[in-house]
Amino acid sequence: MTASTLTSRQLELVRESFGRLVPIAGAAGALIYERIFVLAPQTRVLFDDDISEQAVRLMQAVGRAVESLDRPEEVREFLERLGARHVRYGVVPAHFDVLTDAVTWALGEGLGEAFTSEVREAWEIVCATVAEAMVAGMTATSAVAV
Ligand code: HEM
Repeated sequence: MTASTLTSRQLELVRESFGRLVPIAGAAGALIYERIFVLAPQTRVLFDDDISEQAVRLMQAVGRAVESLDRPEEVREFLERLGARHVRYGVVPAHFDVLTDAVTWALGEGLGEAFTSEVREAWEIVCATVAEAMVAGMTATSAVAV
């Protein structure tokens, strides 16, 4: 799955499904990390033992990206800066390989039957877009103000 533009229907599906997670953002973020640590256990040491605050920060950043998905330039700049900061945290581009799997798995757990294949497809595009922009920010840290 590569990054591409969402249709207006897909944008609506992403916003609607994310809205369902907002009241349980801490738990949803924790699920994403749970999955990341299964798929890429070597990343566990990069985080504090207690990842609850980080889980909320992750979801806030995803929320900000989701809010501005229809303003591609703005969201791109935000994600590149966020990605550039990740270099300092010891994150490498390969860690983003598990992102789509972790996010879609957590969405499936959190949304149950509401996580239809149409919703999944829309989120796969979002994840690919986020990962692509963050990795671009990581690999060109000198090009953006961190
Ligand atoms: C959807 C993609 C991601 C988003 C939106 C995201 C978001 C964030 C945010 C908002 C922070 C807080 C600090 C800051 O704003 O600079 C953060 C920190 C961090 N992220 Fe991410 N992140 C993502 C992917 C990843 C991945 C794939 C990894 C590697 C497994 C990772 C590892 C870390 C680490 C190690 C920290 C520092 C934690 C600490 O200070 O304890 N992130 N991330």
